Amino acid sequence: MALFRRKQEPRPDLSDIILPEHIGIIMDGNGRWAKKRGLPRSAGHTAGAQTFRKIARYCSNIGIRYLTVYAFSTENWRRPEDEVGALMKLFKEYLEEAIRDFKDDSIVLRFIGDRSAFSDELVALMQENEAESMDRPGMVLNIAMNYGGRDELVHAVRGIAADVERGALEPEAIDEAVISSHLYTRGQPDPDLIIRPSGEYRTSNFLLWQSAYSEYVIMDILWPDFKESDLDYALIEYAKRNRRFGGV
Ligand code: IPE
Ligand code: IPE
Ligand code: MG
Repeated sequence: MALFRRKQEPRPDLSDIILPEHIGIIMDGNGRWAKKRGLPRSAGHTAGAQTFRKIARYCSNIGIRYLTVYAFSTENWRRPEDEVGALMKLFKEYLEEAIRDFKDDSIVLRFIGDRSAFSDELVALMQENEAESMDRPGMVLNIAMNYGGRDELVHAVRGIAADVERGALEPEAIDEAVISSHLYTRGQPDPDLIIRPSGEYRTSNFLLWQSAYSEYVIMDILWPDFKESDLDYALIEYAKRNRRFGGV
């Protein structure tokens, strides 16, 4: 994985390059961004939420069909109570306005992850956002909340086992397509490009199954500082990659 550094160059022309159909973003670096400024970590999350709005809209404007953002992992509950509390408050505030926020962009909102850990209020807001946006023609925006790739596979295995138990599926019929159809992203293409700002070289449990052949672009920038031009550079880097999928 190459560390992709920002360069001060004029805005590139994206009209001639092959764009990914599905982008994943690990929105990382909020805490370090706040620390650098002597602010509480929660201030980094608030700034990161603004960046998320801006970049989601930008992806939609340039014609990306699917965007999956990692907002909260199954492991993030390990953080101090006040930080988790601030994040839940931020999610609630955001979900209350999300439906209006993305209306003009025709964005379809989906939430991936295990909802059972969230408050009834938050779960109701997720359902409301999904129901109200589902018929829109635009980009599908998956927000990964209490998402973990391993947890997703555990749920998929349980679902498949239940199908076998009730006689709806023969064990021999379990193949990759069956597994994919039990994931939160069922029916969606795998991510072509995964961007990780903050310079960490790991997946942190993001889209484990789906990212088997995703191109990773690791960027030396903290998420709240991420700009449209940084996305452009990740797209240009992606367009230069030679995707072989195991072939030659
Ligand atoms: C990502 O930023 C946001 C969440 C995980 C919710 P971090 O909070 O992980 O920021 P760093 O990595 O500590 O800088
Ligand atoms: C991954 O970031 C999760 C999100 C961005 C939501 P983390 O900050 O939790 O990942 P680690 O702990 O550095 O691997
Ligand atoms: Mg982090």
